[in-house]
Amino acid sequence: MFGLFKKKDTFAPLIVDMHCHLLPNVDDGSSSPEETVRSLKAMYTVGYRKVFLTPHFQARYPNIEDDIKKRFEVLKKAIAKSGEKNLPEVVDIAGEYRFDPLFARMPGVDKVLTLPGKTLLCEFSLHNNGYMPIDIFSDYIKMGYKLILAHPERYPYLNAHSTEVKKMREMGVAFQVNILSLNGFYGESAKRKGFEYIEKGLSEYLGTDTHNMRYIAALLETAENKEVQRVLKNYNFKNAELIK
Ligand SMILES: [Fe+2]
Repeated sequence: MFGLFKKKDTFAPLIVDMHCHLLPNVDDGSSSPEETVRSLKAMYTVGYRKVFLTPHFQARYPNIEDDIKKRFEVLKKAIAKSGEKNLPEVVDIAGEYRFDPLFARMPGVDKVLTLPGKTLLCEFSLHNNGYMPIDIFSDYIKMGYKLILAHPERYPYLNAHSTEVKKMREMGVAFQVNILSLNGFYGESAKRKGFEYIEKGLSEYLGTDTHNMRYIAALLETAENKEVQRVLKNYNFKNAELIK
């Protein structure tokens, strides 16, 4: 499958992927350590050198942090055992926390799995008609968390001109557009909005949000996309700052 694409290190300027579902068997992501290794191998070919794993924490996938950490240790051993050399380093485990009416994760939880610098990757529901509990955001910010909102371009009820976007930005919430959105993986609207957020300077980070080999095939195709290559050349993203 991958032979169809000439490998380009399009994403080398990012160095780091900070959003993917490659911890096996805990959500709708990778289904085995082998799939994770194959996925990582492909990510290496398009320029990634460091990866943070961010399994879902939401009502549908009621993961528990301690269990996730144990599974991460098991995966690290499986990766080492695979003997594969050209893989990005799997730096650490974090989470993608969904704030929606069903997932009542409230401030005070001391085990929240964050990216470095107490940076919390969070998302809203894709289908909840605009429930955005921005007040919960401010509670987390008061507790010293930095927030990154995953894939703002994918919420049908939100756009770069929304009042809620303005409010979140004033609060200091950073945004992370999904790379695959820019190649039309989630449809035309997400594609248009993805470029718009970036061009307005509203996306500090880019993430793969990779789940499985279907996403990986799309990522390799996206690496060939001239518009995406232009974005990577012309805009600075903060992915690499996560490992400083
Ligand atoms: Fe995700």
